[in-house]
Amino acid sequence: MEKAESIWMNGEFVAWDDAKVHVLSHGLHYGTGVFEGIRAYDTEQGTAVFRHREHLERLQQSAELYYLPMPYGVEEMRAATHELINRNGLAACYIRPLAFRGYGEMGLFAKGSPIEVMIATWPWGAYLGEESKREGIRAKVSSWRRISPDGLIPHAKASGQYLNSILAKTEVANAGYDEAILLDDRGMVCEGSGENIFLVRDGEIVTPGHTSSILDGITRRSVIQIARDLGYTVVERDVGRSELYLAEEVFVTGTAAELVPVREIDDHPLPCPGEITKVVQAKFEDALHGRAPEYVEWLDPVEQPSRVAS
Ligand SMILES: Cc1ncc(COP(=O)(O)O)c(C=O)c1O
Repeated sequence: MEKAESIWMNGEFVAWDDAKVHVLSHGLHYGTGVFEGIRAYDTEQGTAVFRHREHLERLQQSAELYYLPMPYGVEEMRAATHELINRNGLAACYIRPLAFRGYGEMGLFAKGSPIEVMIATWPWGAYLGEESKREGIRAKVSSWRRISPDGLIPHAKASGQYLNSILAKTEVANAGYDEAILLDDRGMVCEGSGENIFLVRDGEIVTPGHTSSILDGITRRSVIQIARDLGYTVVERDVGRSELYLAEEVFVTGTAAELVPVREIDDHPLPCPGEITKVVQAKFEDALHGRAPEYVEWLDPVEQPSRVAS
């Protein structure tokens, strides 16, 4: 990964190479952490963070779900992120806040270990590749099922839970595919290893709902709103595996990947990029880059010191 100058750690800005933790940090042993993946874009109005508050609110919710008392609130995290982006001099970047149980106590009921919080920003291109947004990806349904709500918390973006995504991604990447699609514990389509999934059936956009063990993706929410505003019908419902093969179009959404069409699933070819995918993708890209006035409130502009002074 590409280094930046500073990382925000527990209220202070430290040099990138000095942002270190103790090897006995609780989160390192048990995965007791919650995090976010956020992006800032270089828009015509300057650097702006996409749906910043929604991401930071989800971070607070993930922490609450795992009984991690957050020492910093949404506004403190937001201000720290703005300052970090300015210090690192990045016009566009990926933003990774993480809160985890630190060093102090071991064992599974370690209320004595402090909650440490960090924010890093660095330049990071499209997660599945820039060309994937035009040409689509090859996906495979993984043999690993998505974590179910009777053992973990699909709605939380929690560090330890990502071992599930890593198993699925590793399996399909080793088999030569770009991305894994996970089924839920009932065998219904859930989502990608780091993206939500949409398909087009009979001209309607369909996506698994909140009872399908999905992460409540912020890109998903944005894309649902954009699609409805464009006049498409969006239905949240259970999706059977074979519907993926029979779909007119399939695409995945996430902060890291953005909106990416799928051109093949389990070796079944799909029209790609589909007509509806292209229209929704174009509007979504406009929203990210500040070219869609109707979604401008989704952008949190980062005030730059020179502009503040003038
Ligand atoms: C498992 C999983 N599902 C879905 C998503 C998409 O969520 P978002 O659009 O909020 O980035 C992500 C990315 O954070 C993810 O890790």
